Amino acid sequence: MKIIIPAAGQGTRLRPHTHTVPKVMLPVAGRPIIGHILADLASLEPSGIQLVVGYRGDSIEAYVHEVFPDLPIEIVWQHDQLGLGHAVLTALEAKEHEPTLVVLGDTVFDVDYAEIVSSPDHALGVRPVPDPERFGIVELDAAGESIVKLVEKPTEPKGNLALVGLYFVRDGELLRSALAGLVDEGGTTRGEYQLTDALQRLIDAGERFIPYSIKGWFDCGKPETLLATNRELLNRQPPQVDVSSDDTKFVAPVFVGADCVIESSIIGPHVSLSKGVTVRDSVIRDSIIGEHATVSGFVLEGSIIGPGARLEAAPRGLNLGEGSELIC
Ligand code: G1P
Repeated sequence: MKIIIPAAGQGTRLRPHTHTVPKVMLPVAGRPIIGHILADLASLEPSGIQLVVGYRGDSIEAYVHEVFPDLPIEIVWQHDQLGLGHAVLTALEAKEHEPTLVVLGDTVFDVDYAEIVSSPDHALGVRPVPDPERFGIVELDAAGESIVKLVEKPTEPKGNLALVGLYFVRDGELLRSALAGLVDEGGTTRGEYQLTDALQRLIDAGERFIPYSIKGWFDCGKPETLLATNRELLNRQPPQVDVSSDDTKFVAPVFVGADCVIESSIIGPHVSLSKGVTVRDSVIRDSIIGEHATVSGFVLEGSIIGPGARLEAAPRGLNLGEGSELIC
């Protein structure tokens, strides 16, 4: 089986972080998003993993080869950002009939991958959403067993069952020829070649796709969802046992990377400190702190601090009389 992971996007909604770091390399619960995805997929023992990179792809390439040297990862460059369908097409080779699983590189799924790839039919990961106009939307037949229609980000959605970014096609060549047909005809939607549209072609040609309901879906597309994913993944991790400090209180769950220096602080819950972080005289909750950042004298909550950033506030000397109020 072959796995394709599109990871070429810029992640504009996560600026300023994605000015310097590609979205899939942003850390949540102690490792980059792409690290969680690859760790989950490793047990499938795929014959190949095509990782489609573009924007700042060098850092993704360096990371995966260092951390996952045993996985059969091939880096595929998508130089023009022409859409998700185009990204997947870039990774597909002609006449390869292997079952193919496409997993979006910016979303962590709580799913039994072994179950989805053992489906006798093509299968698409789905989940109801409150805002269907933001997603590819699935319409089912009367029995609710097969997918009859897919519409990318409909303005007037018929239903709220969304494509979550997990696509299993039993024959990679089928998908490749549908995508190639779309590109040959210039069939764009919203200016891009959509994977959704290529899958609709396969449905129109009589291929059976079934919906596969996924348990959990941790989006990492916006600051608030990145923090929510950080919380959820920290909740699921076994507690770190080697976190200790004489004058600091850790409120689980937290992740503390290697070589952190932490003094006189309260850390947690739901805090990820990447390696080499320094924290002094601070209180940090619900936050992600990037590698080698320094936080001194701050109270942080719901914060994402980039690598190497430096936050230092000096202690204040106050001379306040009885009944004074100072609210900052
Ligand atoms: C892509 C797909 C869309 C799907 C979504 C899931 O959209 O085109 O069909 O529902 O991923 O996250 P994007 O989020 O890249 O705009």
